[in-house]
Amino acid sequence: MEKYIINGGNRLYGELPIIGAKNAVLPILAATVINGSSNLISNVPKLRDVEIMIKILDSLGAKVEMKGDTIAIDSSKISKVTLPEELVREMRSSIIFMGALLARFGEAVLSYPGGCEIGPRPIDLHLKSLRQMGAEIEESHGFLYCKAKGLRGCDIQLDYPSVGATENIILAASTADGTTIIRNAAREPEIVDLQDYLNKIGCRVKGAGTSIIVVEGVKELHSCEHRIIPDRIVAGTYMVAAAITQGEIVLKNLVVEHLQSIIAKLKETGTRVIIDKKDIKIIGPDRILPIEMLQTLPFPGFPTDMQAQFMALLSIADGTSIINETVFENRFKHAEELTRMGANIKTFGNVAVIKRANKLTGAKVYAKDLRGGAALVLSGLVAEGVTEVENIYHINRGYESLYENLNRLGAKIISV
Ligand code: UD1
Repeated sequence: MEKYIINGGNRLYGELPIIGAKNAVLPILAATVINGSSNLISNVPKLRDVEIMIKILDSLGAKVEMKGDTIAIDSSKISKVTLPEELVREMRSSIIFMGALLARFGEAVLSYPGGCEIGPRPIDLHLKSLRQMGAEIEESHGFLYCKAKGLRGCDIQLDYPSVGATENIILAASTADGTTIIRNAAREPEIVDLQDYLNKIGCRVKGAGTSIIVVEGVKELHSCEHRIIPDRIVAGTYMVAAAITQGEIVLKNLVVEHLQSIIAKLKETGTRVIIDKKDIKIIGPDRILPIEMLQTLPFPGFPTDMQAQFMALLSIADGTSIINETVFENRFKHAEELTRMGANIKTFGNVAVIKRANKLTGAKVYAKDLRGGAALVLSGLVAEGVTEVENIYHINRGYESLYENLNRLGAKIISV
């Protein structure tokens, strides 16, 4: 089992460009099934989840080539509609193939998807909406058998603005008969990126980024080139790295608008944030201030994917902070590991109370999920002595070259 060994106590300084967003590239890779043509996707991060997505595309019959940060996908020869079970189980995003395969072939077979263990992750909203569009979905022995003799556009009211459900509906609707309206749609920037990609291949999608998305089904699609938006969660994680180590980092190539909720909360901790067009300079404070209330919410609220990293930061703040996790039910597994390092955290259901710890000390800790794992690395950067983060496989699912980048900024981490 691979692990990081971190020698804490080094301030981070320097510049770092931010690569494409995992949560944008994964649904777009699934969407390349639809056009039956060539796709050139650039600014793609090198991540385990991207590799799995490529393997799934390959198993379906697509021709996939990765060169540097660009992936060429020719989906014209795809002939299969069944996803390999072992790959689907490794990654929740594989569920997005359901909408894409239905849009292209009117058929899809897959097992229930896997992903991070951050609470029950139902797909009821996906299934309900696709059924409303005319898909027949049979759930049997852990598999989903989906068939549609022509999906039809309709009016869908989502009970919750689920990111994945919104993406699946947009994909299924892209070639359906008539117009689909999604109300209470998720507004995440990654959905805007999916809309941009789809419109480049000839789809007619508008409204992404707002809570009402309108998709007019089309029959003619073509090839395209698309560049993935920068990863706001990776950027946020490095921002916390600067803040927690009292360092000074400039992050390059960002969309500042995507980061507003993270910037606002960082400022509450006393961190200085200086914006210069697409670059953001972060200057960590001498004394980290607590945050009275940090509540995770769908975009444009504070992202649940940054909750763990902020818990690491707040564990050395000078006072008491409260975090309320409203998006996922079981997303505090990192709290117990942070406590091993000396953090003073108590959780009550979806609420965590973080009191001032005198200091963090290095310990052996275990990454139980992707962002929780990143939080342990951040704590290791300031902990006294040596921190060993085990099970870093989860971290590699979402961060390209994390320890190399941190080392370039002055951290002392080895991967063994
Ligand atoms: C996506 C992101 C993930 C992020 C999450 C919330 C990707 C690849 N992953 O995950 O990093 O943490 O958005 O911003 O983009 N829910 C239901 N029924 C459903 C679907 C969802 O009850 O059918 C619930 C979930 O259990 C969860 C909440 O809705 O409590 C949000 O989930 P959702 O927005 O769907 O997240 P994902 O798309 O899985």
